[in-house]
Order: sequence, then structure tokens, then C-alpha cells
Amino acid sequence: MISFHIMTLFPEMVTQGLGTSIIGRGIERGFVGIDAVNIRDYAFNKHHSVDDYTYGGGAGMLMQAEPVFECYQAILREIRENGNDSPVRCVYLTPQGRVFDQRLAYELAKEEDLILLCGHYEGIDERVLEEIVTDHVSIGDYVLTGGELAAMVVCDAVARLVPGVLNNEASSDMETFKDGLLEYPQYTRPEVWHGKKVPEILLSGHHENVEKWRREQSLLRTRERRPDLLK
Ligand code: ADE
Repeated sequence: MISFHIMTLFPEMVTQGLGTSIIGRGIERGFVGIDAVNIRDYAFNKHHSVDDYTYGGGAGMLMQAEPVFECYQAILREIRENGNDSPVRCVYLTPQGRVFDQRLAYELAKEEDLILLCGHYEGIDERVLEEIVTDHVSIGDYVLTGGELAAMVVCDAVARLVPGVLNNEASSDMETFKDGLLEYPQYTRPEVWHGKKVPEILLSGHHENVEKWRREQSLLRTRERRPDLLK
């Protein structure tokens, strides 16, 4: 069981995005918890605004420290009330972070609770980031309009590694990146499609040869498509 606590200005984006398919089923079955918390609920002024101009000038607005901090504290209080007294990681989604990969997904999947912070506008006041963030994480070298899509990517990749979320325990074991290689090609019926036949060896029933062929295909494919992974 893992609980994701997502701090965002657009909670419905996250809950809708993660509520379907395999992760949705994981939520229904109690293997995954999604707690999307609206930072605006912690706005301290009567207009419920959470952003303001940037000191020193420049275009755009910045999210203020206090609502983010209050939201974080409320989440942490709830985590403690639910009996987790271990340190809780707070992941800030930002293009300035460590690039997310399968290794980090495995690492985060060991946590019981995970707090994810989504920025919007031009970002968040640095002072609150200094106080609460344990991990700066990017999902790639491009800039999104906010952290929500990135948080959803992280939640999806981490949640599917939590025992019980995938029906077939083997299926997260065998796949792409597990041993640093891309997955081999796969085929299902019919045996011939558009004149293309399924590789003979897969019909042979010879388990050892099949494994050997798959390993070779993984290596070939990785060399061709992602040579950087072999270094
Ligand atoms: N927010 C905006 N762009 C991002 C990215 N590439 N990764 C994570 N969070 C982001």
C-alpha cells in the first residue's frame, strides 16, 4: 500500500488522470491512495489568492510560501495521525530536478507515504522549497505548464510497482529497464498477419531457446534504439 499526497492548484486533474485503468483499480482495491490537496484551501487572505509578483521584477506570478507550507503541514499531520512516524519524502516536480527513471521509481515505491508538490505559474517562493522539499524531480528536459502531469507520471510509474497493483506479479519483473535493457518484441494471434509470420522459435515450445532468443532481441533492440543504456 502506498499513499500519494499531491499538493496542487488543480486536484481534479490529478484524481481524474489517475482514477482509471490499472491505477484506478489499484485505488479501488486499496493498494494505492491518492490524496489530492488543493493548495488554495490554505490561502491566508480573503481573496483566496496564492500567487503574487516576483521580487526583483520579471514576468509572471509566483506561488507564495505560506499556503504551500500550511498545506504541507496539514498533510504531514494527517500522515502522523495515520500512524506513520518515519521521515516522509516531499518531491517537488521541476525541470531543475534529478531526471526520473525506473531506478528512482523502484526507490520511491518502498515508501508508505509520498508527498508531491506541483508548481504552477512561474514557480514557488524558494524559501518554502528549502524548508519542505527532500527531492527535486524532473520527468525530462522540456518545460510543462505545471507540475501536475509530471506528478501523474511519477505516481503511475511508482504505483504499478507496489505489490497487488498489477495482476500478474511477473509482469513488472520481466519488462523494459528491469535489467537495464529494452524489452524484446512480442506477438499474439494470428500466426500470420499482413504476410508477416511470428518468429518460428516462439512456436517451438522450447523454453530455453525462447529465453535465449528474447535476451538476444533485447540486446539488439537496446543497441539500435537506446545505445546510451549499454554504457
Ligand atoms: N514542471 C514543469 N516542467 C517539468 C518537468 N519537465 N518535469 C517535472 N516538473 C515540471
